Amino acid sequence: MAEAAKATESARLKWKPAPGERVGPYEYWVRQTGLPVLRGHYVADVRTAELGWWAERECSAAFVDLQGQGSLMEGRITEIPPGVTLPPLKFGLDEVVYVLKGRGFTTLWRGDGEGKRTIEWGPHSLMLLPRNYTHQLTNAQGSETVRLLHYNALPMAMAAVPDPSVHFDNPYLQPGMIPEEETEFFAAAKMVPGRRRISVMWSGNFFPDLAVWDQLRRSESRGAGGSIVQFYFPGIPFNAHMSVFPKQTYKKTHRHGPGPFRPGALLVVVSGEGHTIMWPHDDEDAEKVVIPWHEGTIFNPPDKWFHGHYNVGVEPARYIAIQPPQHFSEHKSISIDVEYADEESWIREKFEAELAKRGLTSLMPPEVYTDPDYQWTYRDDEES
Ligand SMILES: [Fe+2]
Repeated sequence: MAEAAKATESARLKWKPAPGERVGPYEYWVRQTGLPVLRGHYVADVRTAELGWWAERECSAAFVDLQGQGSLMEGRITEIPPGVTLPPLKFGLDEVVYVLKGRGFTTLWRGDGEGKRTIEWGPHSLMLLPRNYTHQLTNAQGSETVRLLHYNALPMAMAAVPDPSVHFDNPYLQPGMIPEEETEFFAAAKMVPGRRRISVMWSGNFFPDLAVWDQLRRSESRGAGGSIVQFYFPGIPFNAHMSVFPKQTYKKTHRHGPGPFRPGALLVVVSGEGHTIMWPHDDEDAEKVVIPWHEGTIFNPPDKWFHGHYNVGVEPARYIAIQPPQHFSEHKSISIDVEYADEESWIREKFEAELAKRGLTSLMPPEVYTDPDYQWTYRDDEES
């Protein structure tokens, strides 16, 4: 740890923009930490990605700036050593946190300690750290590290207000930001009526284990007999959903838009094994991007890119999609689906080849390639 700390500190002290290099306020702040920034279209496994030591925060960390985030959203990985509690941090923006590995707890309070509460979490928990609260993260285990994935709009905020001290440890408190009696802040999530294609949403600030979450509804628009749950954080401009689809099947490729530019959702694979194929909608000659995935892979389809997900494993696949702020909501734009009959032949060939490598075969009913109105069997059909 000491060597890593030294290397990071030395990078921080050495870094300055090259002559003539224009660096925005957020990137300047990031570069000054000396921490790695993971770029490209995906991170193969955020549970094992290389991190650097962040002396100020007393943890290992890396930033994630995938192409689809548009440099408007921050992804960040935090690793907490065994048994360690990190220094308290007051952050002015809402932050969604997903637990990649390990067990621990978050203590949250306002002002000098008002409304203090503690949330215990474990692998696959999803929680919301509300803006202007102080939070403190603890690894409750003595032998295992904790890894967390954070998602917030700091790059966007610092583009408008470049001074980091406005965003960190700013004493401002928004009165009544979350009326606790109404939202049962950090109490058990509850079901609320949904919107448009999603009939039911779950409202709350903490979802304990998404790997076993079973409150799902049919997702009929994308085929594969898949199901979905929408997570809504009360009083917060973020939401997320989780999609689950059966073994040895794949969902229809689709894209979002037309509409104004939006950073795409950050997708995190909770369980399962497969790949995603994505490409820009306006460049037929562009090389298709193939992302192999399993638990711990993250990726971010860029704005208006087609994307399709393929489950080549023997278990249902689960992924969560954490959406950028609602100003960029995908629900404001139309979803354009590619019917199975219209897809390029190599897409199905690749799917079948990946299955064959594992001694498996496709469970896609042949009729889906000829009948656009094919009626899938759903999990709840099987149960009833
Ligand atoms: Fe999508």
